[in-house]
Amino acid sequence: MPARFERKEKLKQPSSRLNSTMASPSPTRPKPLPFSLHRGYIGRRTSIPCALVALGLVFVIFLTWKHADSQETNPSFYSFDIVNEFPHDPQAFTQGLLYQGNGALLESTGLYGRSTVRKVDLRSGKIGRFDHPMKDGWGLATDGKIIFGSDGSSTLYQLDPGSWEVIKKATVKYNNHEIPLINELEYVNGEVWANVWQTDCIARISQDNGSVLSWILLHELRQNLLRSGHTGIDVLNGIAWDEDNKRLFVTGKLWPKLYEIKLRPLTTPPFDGKIEKLCPTRGFR
Ligand SMILES: *[C@@H]1O[C@H](CO)[C@@H](O)[C@H](O)[C@H]1NC(C)=O
Repeated sequence: MPARFERKEKLKQPSSRLNSTMASPSPTRPKPLPFSLHRGYIGRRTSIPCALVALGLVFVIFLTWKHADSQETNPSFYSFDIVNEFPHDPQAFTQGLLYQGNGALLESTGLYGRSTVRKVDLRSGKIGRFDHPMKDGWGLATDGKIIFGSDGSSTLYQLDPGSWEVIKKATVKYNNHEIPLINELEYVNGEVWANVWQTDCIARISQDNGSVLSWILLHELRQNLLRSGHTGIDVLNGIAWDEDNKRLFVTGKLWPKLYEIKLRPLTTPPFDGKIEKLCPTRGFR
């Protein structure tokens, strides 16, 4: 089902009642003291230190407010900074990426039925052998207890690692609209991160209810590769989290590089944060 992003008009608050009580001031309210009286009472000598104290107070209030403000802000969009670049097999049509530990990644690749799961050395990009029982899937991730799975729809599955039975299903939604084409998954700090297929976007999904909590915008990574002449590259596809060293890796299909990145909060996202413009897929239209 295509997700639509209609802008909801903000409901106008009925304000007449509030206004009517505000408009009639209480007759018992005391008149404010004229400024000159204050000045006379404080005296001229103390007025400068008093002004300084007041200024200091205003400054402290400002700092407290700024601090509270910065703590409350939970940005919905992130850009990134590149921390490291590693070589990546430009023939690898990456489907999935998993950090295995000890500088090694597991990568699943596929194209025209040639799918492989390979062990990749992070530093050199060299490919080793890895035998596995896995079949093709869109995305899999685990928190160590349950398996999260995606099948290219807007459904996030929770599977039993023993029986592979579906324990729970959630619909991935952002601002009440379904997000289709949920692809490669990664479990990061209690959230499920998913690349939306054929976009440069990663959705950070609540594992409890499927809500998209925020977005990571990686447009510049692919654009930079294109600009530097790698015109044959395909879409972003591959997220790996190194839990021990808190390192985040991303790559894409037929990309010659694998990046270690760090998130940077965006206060003013492009397109006013309209996700159908930022992360366009077929389903958004
Ligand atoms: C979904 O869960 C997250 C916490 O993981 C919470 O912040 C959010 O409000 C929940 N959304 C809904 C619609 O229940």
